[in-house]
This record gives sequence, structure tokens and C-alpha cells, in this order.
Amino acid sequence: MLPRCAVTVCHVLMLVLCLSAAEDFDWTKNDHGAFYYGTFPAGFSWGAGSSAYQTEGAWDKDGKGLSIWDVFSHKKGKIQLNETGDSSCEGYYKVKDDISLMKELKLSHYRFSISWPRLIPTGIKSDHVNEKGIQYYDHLIDHLLENKITPIVTLYHWDLPQVLQEKYGGWQNISMVNHFNEFANLCFEKFGNRVKYWITFNNPWSVAVEGYETGEHAPGLKLRGTGAYKAAHHIIKAHAKVWHTYDTQWRGKQKGLVGISLSGDWGEPVDITNQKDIEAAERYVQFYIGWFATPIFYGDYPQVMKDFIGRKSVQHGLGTSRLPTFSPQEKSYIKGTCDFLGIGHFTTRYITQKNNPSGRSSSSYFLDRDLAELVDPRWPDPGSEWLYSVPWGFRRLLNFVKTQYGNPMIYVTENGVSEKMSCTELCDDWRIHYYKDYINEMLKAIKDGVNVKGYTAWSLLDKFEWDEGYSERFGLYYVDFRDKNKPRYPKASVQFYKRIISSNGFPNQREVENWRRKAVETCSSSNQLLAAEEQRSTAANILRLIHDPLTSHMEMVTEIVVPTVCTLSILLSAIFLMFLLRRRN
Ligand code: NOJ
Repeated sequence: MLPRCAVTVCHVLMLVLCLSAAEDFDWTKNDHGAFYYGTFPAGFSWGAGSSAYQTEGAWDKDGKGLSIWDVFSHKKGKIQLNETGDSSCEGYYKVKDDISLMKELKLSHYRFSISWPRLIPTGIKSDHVNEKGIQYYDHLIDHLLENKITPIVTLYHWDLPQVLQEKYGGWQNISMVNHFNEFANLCFEKFGNRVKYWITFNNPWSVAVEGYETGEHAPGLKLRGTGAYKAAHHIIKAHAKVWHTYDTQWRGKQKGLVGISLSGDWGEPVDITNQKDIEAAERYVQFYIGWFATPIFYGDYPQVMKDFIGRKSVQHGLGTSRLPTFSPQEKSYIKGTCDFLGIGHFTTRYITQKNNPSGRSSSSYFLDRDLAELVDPRWPDPGSEWLYSVPWGFRRLLNFVKTQYGNPMIYVTENGVSEKMSCTELCDDWRIHYYKDYINEMLKAIKDGVNVKGYTAWSLLDKFEWDEGYSERFGLYYVDFRDKNKPRYPKASVQFYKRIISSNGFPNQREVENWRRKAVETCSSSNQLLAAEEQRSTAANILRLIHDPLTSHMEMVTEIVVPTVCTLSILLSAIFLMFLLRRRN
């Protein structure tokens, strides 16, 4: 044990280190710059991603246990149109098909996640290990490797076994640390001879805030002001434990890396000459990525979180801060548990200072930050309500990570854009623009000295988008969810991304513009073909439904609430078919 004064000196040194690192990031300069033509470093890894619950389907097949998302999505009113991930893309049955899509793209890596309850149905290893689950992931990993695609595997992409939620309260309970460690250890044992990149948690911010603070995500708890901080505290400890397990028991023979994937929007001060706005923007980023990255790189929460949450807790009449604390031993155990940092990034906000009134009833993660978020109405927002395309924010975030955390090795684990379309649309010109500009900002960040080793387009397929159901499509490949075979069709962005990959960047303006033009041209003919195909299958479905008046009525109601040209034409063909049928009878 270190004497107490040595521990204090260490803490002071650490604080000075954090502060001096933070000073490196220049908030007062935001150089948007022109498009940069050039290539990525040799060996840069290009990939696409998915997650188990969002794509696998087979929710109750081959011995899989229930996850909190299975249960949450089956409750009425939690997910748009009460959709579930029960069958989703049927990825469980389509390993070979999906790998051929990856080959078509010439991907060097594929990021997917392992469903904990598929491997350990109750979440508790001593209860039972599901051999069929192991076989499924064996098969997936082997096929990827046979096709020279490196697997990047996430251990936790939100699908906690339901038993652990019911028995212990999920991430509110410290016992998750050991259960998760046993699950991770099983994965290292079974797959670690072939998997060399492990991500412990995907986007723990979302797990904590949306799962335990706002309740929009499973398990749907609304423990405002405390739930998210407690969940995050246990997640950070679980991450560290798994990293140590790998480090002491497996690294020697398996020679892999263990990281975490943090998602965060960029926060830009509304007025870069205003110190208050700069501080508010920094707080925004610290409460997002810093909440997890600062403990993992430096052993403790960002000072600004400790100050703000501590002060507000006192104002609310609490004896201790709502932000839990790490003991000195825990701090040194957690510090440095990251071989590479995964970054998921989609969008940006403008941030300004805003004092929130204090009151016990009003305590929440969001109010603790004392800031307001704004968007520029000129920013394009083709898909999800929250997702504005602001490419320069990506470069800013990557530079911030570089200066704050000592230039770690980074893999971009998620970046992409969705669309809200009720009609089939394969000509995703806006996605081409999004990828082109975001990937270009990443290239600029690499030129700035940020150590980015790989990029993962999010996502390979359209899939279950959590509380948004199937209404938001992020895929490079379109999935026809209405067809029970879940066929996949390439969008124009497939052609474009493929070109970036084969050129390892952007050769020159003429060529890049040509890629875009060709991609959009070829997609419009496939788009028409697919639309015709869909109309044929919808007409066939309607013919079937005419014999079942109850379900036929329900289909009609859902269709009518989305009045689009496409739905109207489907309705007209249905009426026409009914008319023909009646005449035949
Ligand atoms: C982050 C999540 O990790 C992923 O599952 C989701 O699809 C994207 N955000 C887009 O919302």
C-alpha cells in the first residue's frame, strides 16, 4: 500500500496532467477548410458494423435466453409501431449471404456483437452455457476469417440477460461486474484464438442515460439524477475487470487488444469568443465521452462532473454527491485499461451556458450540465430527428480525444446516417454526401496527427433501430422487412463506399465526382426494379389478406397513417385486384 501523502501527491499530479492535457485543445479555432484530396495511411482498416439484437433475429431459437430488449420491445408503447427485433434481418440464418455483401464492399473488418443471453441464457455462467450459441459465433468468425475479414467483436451492445435485470436490477447492481466478467472470459476462451479486437461496451452513455435515466431504452427505468451515474459506475468497473482478465489470463497467448467504444456528439461553443460558452461546450463533451474516457485513461471522473454534480447534490440537500466515487485502489485498477479507443460519432450541437434552477425534484443528468443545446437550421437532417450532418464536428472531436487522452489508438466504431422513408429508396445521395464529407474530416484529423487506425461505416444493413423500430434506416444495404426472407439490396452508397475503400481515400475531384454520379445513375434503375418487385409482393399479400378480413383491416389502418405516393398506389392496386376478384366470383 502507498502511504497516504504519496497517494495525495499522485492525485495532484494526475489533476495537473489532466488540466495541462485539456489546455492543448484549442477551442477558439474552428477551421472548416476545403475538401482534402489524399489517401489514408497504408494498412488503414475499412469496415462496417452491426449488433446482435439489431440484426440477428432468432430471438427465442436454439436455446437463447431472453434479453432486456426482447422483453422491453414486447411491451406495448415502447417502440414505434410496437415493432420488435424478433426476426429483424434474420442475420442468424444469413451468415454466408452477409459475408458476401462484405466481400462485395471489399471490407477489411466487420464489427458485430455477441448476444450474452444466446451464449449464457440466464446471464449466470454456472447456470448453463448454450452450445448452439457458441456454434453460431464460431461459424460467423470462421467464415469471416476464411474471407480475410477481421472480426471486431463487441461483448455488450445493450442486450443484458433479462434474468439479471429481474434478479439484481441490472446495471444498478455491482454484481453485474462479476457476471459480465465471466461472460467475457468465456468469449476469450472460446473465440480468442481467432478474435484479436475486443470491445467491452458499446456506447455506455446510452445504456446509462437512456436505460436508467430517461427510460426510452431497455430496461426502461426512470431513476432521474442517480440511475445513470450508478449504472455508468458499474459499467466502468466491469470494463476494467474484463480488461485485467484479458491482460493477465489471455493476452500472452492470444495477443489481442481490448478497448471500449464510446459514442459522443461534438459540442461547439455558440460563441467561440465567449469563455462561458467555451466552458459549457467543454462540459457537454466531458459529460458525454469524458464521463467514461477520463476514468479509463486517468482513473477518475472529469473534475467538472465532480464539481457540478457535487455542488448540485449539496444544493438539493443531499449529504453526498449523486456521482459515485472510486476508492484510490479502484482508481489505479481502472486507469490505463484501454488498448484502443472505439469512437462512435454521428452529429454535433452548438452549446451555450444556461444555469438550471436547483430543486430536489428537478435533479437529472441533463440539468446537471448547466447548458443549452442548439442546432443550425441550415444543417442537413435527412434521417433521425437528432442527426444533423456536421462533418467538421468529427474532426474537432477526434482532435479533442487526441489532446485529452494522450493520442490513443482509435478505431471509429460507428459513423453513418439514417433515412426516414416509407417508400423504397436505393438512391441515397445524401448518405453519399455524408460519408464523403465525414470520412474526409477524419482524413484531415489524421493529417492533424490523430492516431485513427480504422473506420466502421454504420451500418452494413438496415436493422432494428431501438425505440425507433424499423422507421430509421442506417444501412448501406436496404432490407425489405415486409418480405419474410428479408432480402438485401445495395443502395448507391455501397458503390461509393467501395470506391473510397479501393482507392484508400479520395484521389482527385474529377474521380470522386464520377464515383458519385455513377453510383446514383446505377441505383435509379435498380430502384425502379425493386419498387416494381415490392408492388408485386404487396399485391400478393393483399390478395392473401382479402380472405382474412380482420388482419386485412389492421394492415389498412397502418398504411393509411403514412399517406405517401407509394401507399396510395398500393391501395389503388388493391382496390383494382378486389374488383377483379369479385367479378371472377
Ligand atoms: C449508436 C448505437 O450503438 C447503435 O446501435 C445505433 O444504431 C446508432 N447509435 C444509431 O442510432
